[in-house]
Amino acid sequence: MNLDQYNIHDEEYISYISDLLENESVQSMKQYIQHGNTTTLDHCISVSYKSYKIAKKLNLDYVSVARAGLLHDLFLYDWHKNTEKKPLFKKHGFTHPYRALQNASKLFNLNDIEKDIIVKHMWPLTLTHIPRYRESYIVLFVDKVRSTAETFAPLTEKFSSIFSKNVS
Ligand SMILES: [Fe+2]
Ligand SMILES: [Fe+2]
Repeated sequence: MNLDQYNIHDEEYISYISDLLENESVQSMKQYIQHGNTTTLDHCISVSYKSYKIAKKLNLDYVSVARAGLLHDLFLYDWHKNTEKKPLFKKHGFTHPYRALQNASKLFNLNDIEKDIIVKHMWPLTLTHIPRYRESYIVLFVDKVRSTAETFAPLTEKFSSIFSKNVS
């Protein structure tokens, strides 16, 4: 297993998640766009690795962070096509962590920290579902940072190409 295309050359990290990455359902996340031009698989790998690095620095359960970070959006559908009118709490933003947990639990043995990371990753949107572990806060924070960066990436690329054309 190599993650060179993601610029990840960290053998230790890869050893913690390679069994997940070999799974067909996990791989199928590459067919869905998460934000901007980023696939759900790319998003999950990015959240997983960045969260892992932080958790390791803080001496927390970095293996659970790496694994649950990779599975946190395993909802397995194109959420952009989910346009039917639904009450607020039935919308993708609220429901997909439960779907991801359900899918991940069917495929892998998850510990309590991993379950909490996956199902609480949209907090504070999911108001009363407050994360129980510091590991969960790391993933939900990194997820928000990455989601924002990925959403604006196409715009940033456009501006930088206009800018570089104008200055050259
Ligand atoms: Fe999510
Ligand atoms: Fe996410």
